[in-house]
Amino acid sequence: MEWSLDRQMPQKMPQSQKRVDTAQAGTEDFGDLLDLLRAHHEAKLHLCEELEAIADSLPDRVSPQACLMAARRVVATVYDAHDFEDSVLWPVLRRNRPEDVRLEASLSRLHHEHLEDESYAEELASVLTDWAMCVGSRAEATGYMLRGFFGAVRRHIAFEREHLVPILEQIKRASDKS
Ligand SMILES: [Fe+2]
Repeated sequence: MEWSLDRQMPQKMPQSQKRVDTAQAGTEDFGDLLDLLRAHHEAKLHLCEELEAIADSLPDRVSPQACLMAARRVVATVYDAHDFEDSVLWPVLRRNRPEDVRLEASLSRLHHEHLEDESYAEELASVLTDWAMCVGSRAEATGYMLRGFFGAVRRHIAFEREHLVPILEQIKRASDKS
């Protein structure tokens, strides 16, 4: 295997702050691809939990430290996951299911959602940095923005679990038999 889930991760970094490193991913080890997709999902779900806690604490109980941590992680977590899917996972799925029209429709939908989430994540990082610096404003709008983001991310993950994971599992089973 050429890559792993925690290559180059600092030893003392808490689980929720780990980044999934897929920089050298490129083989067709379907078990590893499934593990990586699940690891990215877990990383994003951890992020969603943290963002939800921030949204629930606005404005009076908000923790500047929590906002700073989230601001630092939100863009990287989203981009890491999208990079893995766009550059590694989807090409593998397309190669193994070249005639699958429904798969192509799913990937097209997911691609658009990735673009939206990336743009949203960058905006959120900026807003969370303001709250970390104690200059945040418009708590209601910030809460609305946070809930819109983590709601969309959770729906995106649910869609991938329902539509992509079973396909990858089928491809893996067929590969294991051959
Ligand atoms: Fe995705």
